[in-house]
Amino acid sequence: MALATPSAQAILVTGASAGIGYAVATTLIQSPCKHSILVTGRRSEALSRLKQLDPTRVFVAAGDMLDPTFPAAVVKTAYAKLGRLDALVLNHGTLGQCERIADSDVKDWQDAFMVNVSSNVALVSFCCTLFGSGPLCCCLAVRGLCAEVGECVDSISAETVAREQRAGYHDFVGGGT
Ligand SMILES: NC(=O)c1ccc[n+]([C@@H]2O[C@H](COP(=O)([O-])OP(=O)(O)OC[C@H]3O[C@@H](n4cnc5c(N)ncnc54)[C@H](OP(=O)(O)O)[C@@H]3O)[C@@H](O)[C@H]2O)c1
Repeated sequence: MALATPSAQAILVTGASAGIGYAVATTLIQSPCKHSILVTGRRSEALSRLKQLDPTRVFVAAGDMLDPTFPAAVVKTAYAKLGRLDALVLNHGTLGQCERIADSDVKDWQDAFMVNVSSNVALVSFCCTLFGSGPLCCCLAVRGLCAEVGECVDSISAETVAREQRAGYHDFVGGGT
């Protein structure tokens, strides 16, 4: 595994404004390894609090993964601020407005799929384009949209991950839930 050596890495943490992502980002920022971190989310105040922990090593890309242009903007920011990416912690996720299929709107499901699945594919794809085929560690958290269809969403993300692995681009750790 490429990250076994405890040295400074360039790491993207999405969904870093709250919950698990905020905790992961805080831990990485405070690590003695002195990682460089790019944090994303819509709530810029929370991301600013992370930057204040070490303004020289923490960079912020605030935006909405529902915006189809945002994943490319994130990777371009990583290129400009970090120069490379060694690891992706793809943690952002939402339940959106999705309820049981019978009680919800198709647009809500499209939006949730965009945030939880398509934006992750776009982030990995833009990384391959901008940074080439070097080793990249990717930790993916995909939210099952609801218990009744969670397995379906996970199957899609697992297939995406498997395809990337077969292409030889990345080492993947973690998985969807
Ligand atoms: N907590 C659990 O028990 C659990 C279990 C299994 C899997 N997971 C997965 O682990 C991940 C983190 O869980 P959590 O409990 O920490 O979730 P959380 O507290 O709800 O945090 C979700 C993060 O995703 C970001 N996010 C949501 N919608 C976004 C959007 N449209 N654009 C950009 N960022 C967006 C949020 O930032 P903004 O609101 O600022 O945009 C926030 O930083 C999720 O993917 C979740 O599915 C969690």
